[in-house]
Amino acid sequence: MKKLFLPFLLITFLIACKNDGTGPGGSSSSDAARYHVIPQPVSLIEMQGEFKVTGDTKVLLASNDEGLKTAAAHLASLLIKATGTTIAPMEGEAAKDAFIFQLDPSISHEEGYSLIVTPYEVTVRAKTGAGAFYAIQTLRQLMPIEVEAGKTASLAIPCVEITDQPRYTHRGMMLDVGRHFFSVDDVKKYIDLMALHKMNRFHWHLTEDQGWRLEIKKYPKLQTVAACRKETLVGHYNDTPQKYDGKQYCGYYTQDQAREIVKYAAERFITVIPEIEMPGHALAAIAAYPELGCTGKPAEVGTKWGVYDNVFCPNEATFKFLEDVLTEVMEIFPSKYIHIGGDECPKTMWEQSAFCQNLIKQNNLKDEHGLQSYFIQRMEKFLNSKGRSIIGWDEILEGGLAPNATVMSWRGTDGGIAAAKQDHDVIMTPTDFCYLDYYQSQATNEPLAIGGYLPLDKVYSYNPDPADLTPEQQKHILGVQANLWTEYIPDFAKLTYMAYPRASAIAEVAWSPQASRNYDDFTARLSYHQKRLKAMGLNAANKAYDVKTNVTVVPGKGIEVGLSPIMDGVEIHYSLDGNDVSPSSLLYSQPLKIEKDCILRAQSFEKGQPVGTEAELRFRMHKAAGKQITMSNLPAEKYAGAGPSALINGVHGSVERYGGMEWLGFEGKDFEAMVDLGAVTELNAVTVRFFNGPGQWVYLSQEPVGRYCWRGQANTRIGQHRVHQCGR
Ligand code: ACM
Repeated sequence: MKKLFLPFLLITFLIACKNDGTGPGGSSSSDAARYHVIPQPVSLIEMQGEFKVTGDTKVLLASNDEGLKTAAAHLASLLIKATGTTIAPMEGEAAKDAFIFQLDPSISHEEGYSLIVTPYEVTVRAKTGAGAFYAIQTLRQLMPIEVEAGKTASLAIPCVEITDQPRYTHRGMMLDVGRHFFSVDDVKKYIDLMALHKMNRFHWHLTEDQGWRLEIKKYPKLQTVAACRKETLVGHYNDTPQKYDGKQYCGYYTQDQAREIVKYAAERFITVIPEIEMPGHALAAIAAYPELGCTGKPAEVGTKWGVYDNVFCPNEATFKFLEDVLTEVMEIFPSKYIHIGGDECPKTMWEQSAFCQNLIKQNNLKDEHGLQSYFIQRMEKFLNSKGRSIIGWDEILEGGLAPNATVMSWRGTDGGIAAAKQDHDVIMTPTDFCYLDYYQSQATNEPLAIGGYLPLDKVYSYNPDPADLTPEQQKHILGVQANLWTEYIPDFAKLTYMAYPRASAIAEVAWSPQASRNYDDFTARLSYHQKRLKAMGLNAANKAYDVKTNVTVVPGKGIEVGLSPIMDGVEIHYSLDGNDVSPSSLLYSQPLKIEKDCILRAQSFEKGQPVGTEAELRFRMHKAAGKQITMSNLPAEKYAGAGPSALINGVHGSVERYGGMEWLGFEGKDFEAMVDLGAVTELNAVTVRFFNGPGQWVYLSQEPVGRYCWRGQANTRIGQHRVHQCGR
């Protein structure tokens, strides 16, 4: 991910603390063991009995439709895997002991389906092959988990009646192969997982500062130069000094391989949307062809993360290059949409370039943002002339939207809302809910991530339909997408760890009706779904069981910690002395009172085995802990953590990384808080801690100045900070 320079100043500040279903059709949460389908179908009616697959079971196609045949072929391959028996689909109308596929034009939604399982037959009805394919994904999740690992002794599917259709048409997952390259097999596995979750748009981020990953025949140096960097940053971007591994890193997909991926995805009813970044994130291409930059000087493919100033120059050489590239891209990718990036394009080079300044004047553009808009509009015109449409990140709003562009709203939802109000289509993918490269727990042993904190329940809580749009404008919200930027994701095992189960939550956000979504019901189904992912050999994180802590300061009562989740069959045990937690440690039943320095560790156990990530909180009591606090302005929404009480709840914010609940961030406004100690109290120290994490978009205040006051001696210095006597 690559969003290091947000146009605001963020100051972080912390006073050191010493201190049955719910589906409208009646789907039931009561039997998640039998019906653990993710995403939750629109209507699922549980029935008695089961359909048993035998050696005589047939797969019958009531129509010669190609889509239906593709879908049925997937069922046949599942059945071979599960039973070891080849059950080739054949034409036929109705029979006992059969899976029957029928096209049904009366189904209103293009991707909708109905699935009826009785003890005698399984009937799939769909308007299109896509709908039938989704019915099979549902069937697959109704089959025993063991089918994923291979043969089962017997294969039975519980009886059920399902009617289903997606909420959104764009149900996307993005994969950045620029920062780290993933093999064709890995990309196929990523697509398989999308298919299992009924996702239908694979956004393939193919070009970056750190590597150009698609063969372009007309420009061979994209393969020999732009696809290789001489070394790669090790550790986090914030580390000082930054370190490198000294190893060359290369990789690109041949056009044949890209075509193979397109075909593989299409067989799973997934459209591949390629992204060719412009005008920013272009360093690798400029390293190969320096004339594409504004200075014409030699450049190197990026070796560290972040945003680079060296961007495409809006000159004729660049436009010719990009048109040639996109011509080859369109030959590979049949997608209506081509993503042309548009994000994070520093304007430094354009400001310094006489050519760019002249271009701005000649075209009566307002400024460099106008020039970016000119750039994007020119590329849009080219693509529109070939019958394609562009998608761009929300920066394409700046300087004026290209007339037919679809906006991918990532810096929150404001861009998406503004675009919808201008009658443009929108895909919602705000960092706060959809960036799966963020940390997913507060545990200090989480593998290295870019920053942030995006736990599973927060992903699940997302509703992509903004409240302040008219019904007509709402129609422009095409859907939602999870993004997987790979700066800190070097291999497929870490990829699946970061993506799942949060992508399972996004799938439900994208598919299931808002009114029927329920986090407890989701996690009950997820506990089985996770086992399926494991049986598939995937390294998914087990985050539904993570112990979450809720530290509250209750006036008059002091500091309390609540632990969750409370789930059937799961116990939370804890220790308060920092010792390892086992099933014989204290059993959690109600909020814990914290009155002195301690280390709280808590872990979920299922059948005596630890599940999910342990939580750890270090309490250091100080004279303000548990007292009352007021703030004259609240932290910025995105960086609000536990709110003002973070400063007086006795918990020390982690120094390893920004994220979680204990650091508060402020954008633009000064920070002012007053702690009422309740009585005249002698103080011997005031400690202030700041977090400096530019790689996580967290910055110190420009001046190391705070104005801390107490009733006592004035003008004392504490570290670099002058402490004043309070005015009242
Ligand atoms: C982005 O994350 N820069 C779109």
